[in-house]
Amino acid sequence: MSVQVRVVGDLPWTIKADVLVVPIVGAPVFDGPLGELDRRTGGELSALQAFGEIRERQFTSAISAPGGLPAGRVVTVSVGEAEAIDRETVLRTGAAAIHRLAGRHANTVAIWIAPLVAALGGDVKTVSNLVARGVVEGTFEPKHIYRAADEARTAPPEITELILVTGDMESDHSAAKTAAERGVIVGEGTNLARSLANRSANDVTPEVLAEEAWSLAEKHGLWIDVIGPDKATELGMGMFMAVGKGSDNAPRMIVMRSGKAGEKDALGRHLAIVGKGVCFDSGGISIKPSDRMEEMKMDKAGACSVIAAIATLARLAPGTPLLALAPAVENMPGSHSTRPGDIVTALNGKKVDIINTDAEGRLILGDALTYAERLGATHLVDVATLTGLVSRALGDQVAGAFGTPDSWRDTVIAAGTAAGERYWPLPLVEDYRVEMDSWYGDVTNSGSADGSLVKSALFIREFTTMPWVHLDIAGTGYYRKTKPYAPRGATGSAHATLVELALAGAAPSGD
Ligand code: BES
Ligand code: ZN
Ligand code: MN
Repeated sequence: MSVQVRVVGDLPWTIKADVLVVPIVGAPVFDGPLGELDRRTGGELSALQAFGEIRERQFTSAISAPGGLPAGRVVTVSVGEAEAIDRETVLRTGAAAIHRLAGRHANTVAIWIAPLVAALGGDVKTVSNLVARGVVEGTFEPKHIYRAADEARTAPPEITELILVTGDMESDHSAAKTAAERGVIVGEGTNLARSLANRSANDVTPEVLAEEAWSLAEKHGLWIDVIGPDKATELGMGMFMAVGKGSDNAPRMIVMRSGKAGEKDALGRHLAIVGKGVCFDSGGISIKPSDRMEEMKMDKAGACSVIAAIATLARLAPGTPLLALAPAVENMPGSHSTRPGDIVTALNGKKVDIINTDAEGRLILGDALTYAERLGATHLVDVATLTGLVSRALGDQVAGAFGTPDSWRDTVIAAGTAAGERYWPLPLVEDYRVEMDSWYGDVTNSGSADGSLVKSALFIREFTTMPWVHLDIAGTGYYRKTKPYAPRGATGSAHATLVELALAGAAPSGD
């Protein structure tokens, strides 16, 4: 059961709920509504502030006794300076409040959204959408994927009702409620992507990922085709098979579709989203060093975001045209593995010189992108935990965005901004392409270290002819440490961006 949402015009001190969440903008000043809240708590909030418990640092939180308020507890969440509040801040405010409540008992949560609405220029709909999504995302905890029982200390609160409190009795809040309900659905999709991506490689093999996709397709009325190793070989997916054939857990090319074959959306696009699904990346024969190799179970995060995104689209705007491809493989060393120096033929006919078997993501994406074009795609976006370098360069808060033409890349980045996810444009430096020329084939799958992040994208570009964007989420795809607004592990990165991008092509519905 999804969280039930209400958007109400009441003032926060009249709200009865287990918890009342109060965003604190900048350094708390106890006047206006915050002053009134403080007065009604019997000065608890200002006392906590004087004690040093309420900090200005973004997403720090404090729990206060309610004094004379009808709410059970008050949770303050510091959101930073007003000028710096953007959609991502609003999203994370909801998530931080709920993340703070892990292990606590709260079924009904009210959030005073007026300060956030003011910061976003009065946009109640957007704030309602993002806060509700944040609340749902804030309940995610990967500790419970394999243990039902770690409950006492870390179980997220079971929220049955979310009340968004605007303090504005004049307006009709029905559009905001719809927006919040849609936010709940996107949040559930993010959590689905995260939970799939977090699951371990002995659990989620390519075959299991395909089964998960299959059951989602059945549940949401999506078309699905799962291509196994024999068919993939017959079709000529030489790069995809080169990565997948080294493992006893055979590869699967997962292809899902919403709408009809080749059907154009309201923007005249047949959009395809393609996610890297490396269920485990040992590096293959070019084996990785062992430090943190365990993280490579999350090398399927792109695939999980893509699979979840088409399921979310089916819930929000059923029938909207969208293709989703998830090449799923395990990259393992063994006597069947591809060796460095092996030459394979890609689905588009190019001869590829695999000089490094650890540069495997680009190989499976290349064939998947070619296949997407064969299925009629006119616009391509791939999402991948592709390089350690992107996290060196941009960290875990910003993903890299390559693409051509620039206008399509900027459209994808803008969808990210709308969805509260950050991307930074990176250049496809043509000059570096010659360094990937091969003696024996058309192109090598890796090059010298200089500009290697750019080269990863130049390689993928070899397998596209349509407008294409490559999002490198190796940094944003999972957190190595818990954050105030998210647990450690897979983040569901790019899910919301892809949903936003696809929804832009939904038939106009009136809301
Ligand atoms: N899956 C890795 C990239 C990665 C590294 C993701 C760290 C998340 C955290 C990818 O397949 C890989 O091995 N990339 C190599 C590329 C190199 C061989 C050209 C890398 O980043 O070192
Ligand atoms: Zn990889
Ligand atoms: Mn690799």
